[in-house]
Amino acid sequence: MKARFVLLLFLAVASVGLAYWEEENLASPKSAQQNPYHIPSDKFQTRFETENGNRIRVLEEFDKLSEHLQFLRDYRIVEYRIRPRTAVLPHHSDAEYVLVITRGKAIVQLLTHPNDVQLLLLKQFDVLTVPAGAISYTINRDGDDNLEFIKLALPQNNPGQFQNLYPAGNYTPSSYYQVFRQKTLQAAFNASYEEIKDALWGPNQWKNEVVVKLTHKKIRSLIKRAQSSSTKHGPFRLRNPVEPRYSNKHGSFYETWPLEKYPSLEDLGVSASHLKLKEESLFLPHFNSKGIILAYVADGEGYYQLGSPYPINKQQQQQQEGLIERLTANVTRRDLYIIPAGYPVAVNALEETQLEVVEFMLNAHNNTRKFLIGEGDNVVKQIDPVLLSKSSPEKVKELFNHQDKSYFVNLEDQPDEE
Ligand SMILES: *[C@@H]1O[C@H](CO)[C@@H](O)[C@H](O)[C@H]1NC(C)=O
Ligand SMILES: *[C@@H]1O[C@H](CO)[C@@H](O)[C@H](O)[C@H]1NC(C)=O
Ligand SMILES: *[C@@H]1O[C@H](CO)[C@@H](O)[C@H](O)[C@H]1NC(C)=O
Repeated sequence: MKARFVLLLFLAVASVGLAYWEEENLASPKSAQQNPYHIPSDKFQTRFETENGNRIRVLEEFDKLSEHLQFLRDYRIVEYRIRPRTAVLPHHSDAEYVLVITRGKAIVQLLTHPNDVQLLLLKQFDVLTVPAGAISYTINRDGDDNLEFIKLALPQNNPGQFQNLYPAGNYTPSSYYQVFRQKTLQAAFNASYEEIKDALWGPNQWKNEVVVKLTHKKIRSLIKRAQSSSTKHGPFRLRNPVEPRYSNKHGSFYETWPLEKYPSLEDLGVSASHLKLKEESLFLPHFNSKGIILAYVADGEGYYQLGSPYPINKQQQQQQEGLIERLTANVTRRDLYIIPAGYPVAVNALEETQLEVVEFMLNAHNNTRKFLIGEGDNVVKQIDPVLLSKSSPEKVKELFNHQDKSYFVNLEDQPDEE
């Protein structure tokens, strides 16, 4: 009796084990491919939303998205969509930000010190740094189009955590003056408690609103007062008339480079860039020497290919010398993709679509982008062919000299892979 039970138990355990083993092996390598460096748009969590389309979303913490993204745990990504003639109420935050406008036009008021008050005009692909503790508000100054921007947050207190703090409001936002007791406020304001409450968090205050609609007239007067020149915080342009870092008829790449020219970015070790690829164009394979890129798809659809020297999908018992794994993804509007330092990467726009990508680069100090193919900034070409390949040195040389374009090429007319 006992022996039979043990045998049954053994069979049950063995069959579960077998089923498990089969499942692991049945999963076709293609469908089971995981790419932790591609983060689809649905991994953003909504922090605020209105019926007419204003929205603030924050990307989940990187270390919760994947164990392979632990190295980004100190950073967050925030995405805003603001309706025409609408303002995000003034607040400050316990994080530093680098902001890039991905659509539309803005006015940003930045109060870093009582004697450093800036009213700035921003357009698509402008970059702004917002120091921690600076009180700011952002307005969509356009009458018709949405304003969209993306922010890299570098939290000051808790790694990966940040919050906005508002001076006025009656619950979301709630005024920070409320935290002080009555006596403190009366003495501090030299006013009655009723007066203070009425002005800052009374029943007439903002409730479930962190954005407000402004009149035409108000916007016009703000635009008139705003300065168009750039300050030490920006705006820095990633578009015409600034010279692109790389460009030809297939694409362009603008970058805040060299970083020393942008002290507020240099302090953070962050650079920003804007990649634009024409239909079916390819940004040639390259890698970054030190920089880690967080790329956000502002528009279009693309495909990216990344080589990971660390095993992601393959079950390897121990690290072996010289192995590399191919990770790919179709990327679309509002997706994020990550390019770790040293990893070879190539990105292209799909058919019938232009790809617009906005990038933040961490560890941007002294980064160099090394191209693996093409004429410009190609490092592999410099290797002695005898050490590069066992093939004949002439053939290798010829192969690397075959492409006379730099940075961008077109994929059209290339036969599809099997
Ligand atoms: C407080 O307000 C009263 C008038 O309401 C004024 O006379 C007085 O000077 C104020 N005190 C301070 C310290 O501002
Ligand atoms: C990517 O998109 C192409 C066509 O647009 C499709 O054929 C392919 O299956 C997609 N690949 C993945 C991994 O989704
Ligand atoms: C960047 O390179 C320059 C010159 O080689 C060097 O002086 C500087 O310290 C480097 N900066 C960083 C942050 O590594």
